[in-house]
Amino acid sequence: QAQGNTFKIGLVLPMTGQQASTGRQIEAAARLYMAQNGDTVAGKKVELIVKDDTSLPDVTKRLAQELVVNDKVNVLAGFGITPSAMATAPIATQSKTPMVVMAAATSSITEASPYIVRTSFTLPQVSVAMGDWAPKNGIKSVVSLVTDYGPGNDAEKFFTERFQLNGGKVLDKLRVPLRNPDFAPFLQKVRDAKPDALFVFVPSGAGAAVMKQFLERGMDKAGIKLIATGDVTDDDQLNDMGDGALGVVTTHHYSAAHPSAANRKFVEAFQKANKNMRPNFMAMGGYDGMRVIYEALKTTKGQGGGDALLAAMKGQIFESPRGQVLIDAQTRDIVQDVYLRKVEKKDGQLYNVEFDVIKAVKDPGKAK
Ligand code: DHB
Repeated sequence: QAQGNTFKIGLVLPMTGQQASTGRQIEAAARLYMAQNGDTVAGKKVELIVKDDTSLPDVTKRLAQELVVNDKVNVLAGFGITPSAMATAPIATQSKTPMVVMAAATSSITEASPYIVRTSFTLPQVSVAMGDWAPKNGIKSVVSLVTDYGPGNDAEKFFTERFQLNGGKVLDKLRVPLRNPDFAPFLQKVRDAKPDALFVFVPSGAGAAVMKQFLERGMDKAGIKLIATGDVTDDDQLNDMGDGALGVVTTHHYSAAHPSAANRKFVEAFQKANKNMRPNFMAMGGYDGMRVIYEALKTTKGQGGGDALLAAMKGQIFESPRGQVLIDAQTRDIVQDVYLRKVEKKDGQLYNVEFDVIKAVKDPGKAK
């Protein structure tokens, strides 16, 4: 296949290891998008090259370098965790290759390279909403518990600052390591502090362990509510968490239960193509990321290099299965609706059911 007739997307994801569900969800979503929209765009044959970085940032960087130099990819995409995205940013800049971040969600990522465009979300974007909701709903004191790296630090800062601004009391701020976390000793501390609620952020894949430990230690029976970003009640795991998860309130940008025609169609097609696996917010970032790439290729009629593609990604606005979204032309970050959701049972399955929305939220991490 001549280079001139192909358009290559290098998709670097954690396909194995602790973050493997992120890779599985995003690859499935990218393949669904291609199956639905064809693999010929603006006269080019679109080729997806998937690489497993095992979520080790040095490996992500090496794979991205090889994809640019050897495979001559037109776009880099994926990036399951913040350190992987950060490690790759200089390669995007040096090679002028657009880099579509479909998962990682620390606010500052888009500032690490002018070639980065994000289709996932940011932790400040979803955490501020909880800092507003909780104090209005009887929660006067909290302990926060986050994974100790970029997105966790963002969640802690933006949730606790807003919660305090609204008159709430933060009794303690706890951080657990990213690799092989043991939540037990931290939850004991939370029990002793007796807050009205525990606020949690952990990355996709770790939510079920938090929920299990929270319930096993009888935190709910001790009168401590669990509130979180939607990473905890992850649609990839939620249905296996059991009825103990019922009633947990979270804030996030995507729920598989989002009641729109576009989402019903997306979820049905995704489940049909993937042995009934339920799409989570990672799949959503991957699906919309492919859309942003396809539309940029159409706009540039298959003729542009990295700079032209990047320009065509900026300012895209469309109805996603998650709701209306915009790729902000200035920040290259996603502007989207943020939902309040509660875990409820529908047709015998657990879902994050949306009960309120904050429209068109920009990343508050970039307000200054
Ligand atoms: C990040 C990873 C996640 O799995 C998640 O749910 C949120 C953020 C990250 O590393 O940026």
